[in-house]
Amino acid sequence: MKIPRWCLLLVLATPAVAPVAPAQVSVASPDGRNEVQVAVHEGKLYYLVQRDRRPLLTPSQLGFVFRGAPPLRDSLTIVDSSRATFDETWTQPWGEVARVRNHYNELKVSVQEGTAPRRRFTLTVRAFNDGVAFRYEFPAQPSLGDFEIMDELTEFAFDDNARAWSIPSNRPRLDRSEQLYSSQPISTLDSVQTPITMETRDGKTFMVLHEANLVDYARMNIKGPRMENRTLRVDLAPYADGVKVRGRTPFVTPWRTIQIADRATELAPSVLGLNLNPPSVIQNTEWIKPMKYVGIWWGMHVGTMTWSSGPKHGATTANTKRYIDFAAANGFGGVLVEGWNVGWDGDWIQNRNAFSFTRAYPDYDLAELARYARQKGVKLIAHNETSGGIQNYERQIDSAFSLYHSLGLDAIKSGYVTDLTSEGHSHWGQFMVNHYRHVIEKAAQNRIMLDVHEPIHDTGERRTYPNMMSREGARGQEYNAWGGDGGNPPEHEAILFFTRLLTGPMDFTPGIFDILRTNTGPARRNDEPRVRTTLAKQLALYVVLYSPLQMAADLPENYVGRPELQFIKDVAVDWDTTRVIDGKIGDYVIVARRQKNSPHWFLGAVTDEEARTFDVPLTFLDPGKSYIADIYADGPGANWLTNPLPVSITHRTVTRSSRLRVALAPGGGQAIRIRPVQARTSRPR
Ligand code: NOJ
Ligand code: CA
Repeated sequence: MKIPRWCLLLVLATPAVAPVAPAQVSVASPDGRNEVQVAVHEGKLYYLVQRDRRPLLTPSQLGFVFRGAPPLRDSLTIVDSSRATFDETWTQPWGEVARVRNHYNELKVSVQEGTAPRRRFTLTVRAFNDGVAFRYEFPAQPSLGDFEIMDELTEFAFDDNARAWSIPSNRPRLDRSEQLYSSQPISTLDSVQTPITMETRDGKTFMVLHEANLVDYARMNIKGPRMENRTLRVDLAPYADGVKVRGRTPFVTPWRTIQIADRATELAPSVLGLNLNPPSVIQNTEWIKPMKYVGIWWGMHVGTMTWSSGPKHGATTANTKRYIDFAAANGFGGVLVEGWNVGWDGDWIQNRNAFSFTRAYPDYDLAELARYARQKGVKLIAHNETSGGIQNYERQIDSAFSLYHSLGLDAIKSGYVTDLTSEGHSHWGQFMVNHYRHVIEKAAQNRIMLDVHEPIHDTGERRTYPNMMSREGARGQEYNAWGGDGGNPPEHEAILFFTRLLTGPMDFTPGIFDILRTNTGPARRNDEPRVRTTLAKQLALYVVLYSPLQMAADLPENYVGRPELQFIKDVAVDWDTTRVIDGKIGDYVIVARRQKNSPHWFLGAVTDEEARTFDVPLTFLDPGKSYIADIYADGPGANWLTNPLPVSITHRTVTRSSRLRVALAPGGGQAIRIRPVQARTSRPR
């Protein structure tokens, strides 16, 4: 076992009589496996992380650079420490699991500069069985009132040169999360976004580096190692003038989190970030309801409709009624309408300050459609594309949200397609973090659920604000309509599950049936943007890629008469239990989830470009019960490349002791509903 050098030094230097101020303190998780040590060596503050007494992170430095002061880094001492234990189980209004245990041991380490200006802070560390987290807490103090953070010096010195899955953060301008993931050894990482999912070279440990409870601070990106080592550093998105964070003490930073598991399949469902967010501030959450929705959306992306006014305008009263009728007939709760509001004509990214969020185009009768939808038991979902015109949006937000509320609309989809905001800010800096939070609060006040595209990455906000339902923040289905590089590759969703989706729900918008786009023009060549999955895999994504707002993304006409639609109608959007049965990052994943307040199970399996067969035991089912499995499998000869459409639908009686042979075609998937025989709701066809 490798013992960090400063640990040895500290042991040798410890006087026989316990000093008042300990030079090293530690905390272990309730199961004792994860341990964080905090120590000062030569005036510098370090932490390290061990699992089963083996190092995961070697001594990693902590500290800050504030404007106009020496770095808070060089003459630190530990002046005090305290411990606490916490254990509670709380219930989510919706989610991948209904109940979440929040069980940790906490260590608070009080740190002070030994020299002027003698600033103080507390490093709070929490050790959970599923990972560790820490944050800095600055009390109000004479030498640190109003401040400007020029740099956060937190390091993550990984012991192993683990394989890391990530997306870059340093593309010039476009601060986007809509990029393809790749994997590489930690030592070769450049500038990347979190979450970063890592697998140690021995395959025995999986780690996810991310942040939790990002409030009034800049989003954390990561700078790669200097000099070929394995030390990652925090890289905060700055304001235009280079300042990273402006604030005033008392102040706490977001949590820096490292989720830890023995197997990739144990990473999900991830609750570490949720546990590090404050409990819900919304007392009555009855109006917050997960749902499936359809929308005037894919048509714009494949070019049969436009957002702007004109002959192909999608958001007309008549077209919207058609979508409402389709939703009502098929049990979808919502109808998203994009392009309903004035501002889309011309270059809608450049003209962002022209967007109105209350004025509809003349051919869209908002009040009438709200009435029509209500009468049909469906909710309109209003779309708010801001194009990054933040002041324009914030100026209208009160009137817009109260208008939607008065019309009975209780969900909106927002969007931030732009390079920099109209105020010149990065998508990822403190300004935008505060904007997104402001919108969540305004939405909560007006009883509005949110689905945010081009968002800040998810840091567990949904625990405090359960109206923060879903977001994009990765390459979704839209790239299969227009992505310049041909669309998302077959491995994409098997990576997303183990990376982006560990942070929270994603509005991926599954359910494209017209895979080759024959219904919107000549069949797509394989070097053109198209869906790179089989149809059965599109169904499986409803189970695999969790979202409480889950879209049936294709045009209604592409669903008409299709027996596969039944699975989308049946599949749940709110879960009691989630079990990852098998999976390998970027290769495949099999997930089983039990619907909330229901005995129904759903199973989703997806693979990359390789065909795979699994033997899945159904031991998660209740003993002594018979179930019917409605199986939507890749049909004979199916493969994503040349023959994506065949789906074979079969029904089988199963019990807890059954095993299902799950065969996935290249780029394929399988979707299964398992329902108790006695609680049958629809007859097998
Ligand atoms: C990008 C979003 O991801 C997409 O869903 C939306 O249709 C367009 N922006 C227009 O707002
Ligand atoms: Ca997008």
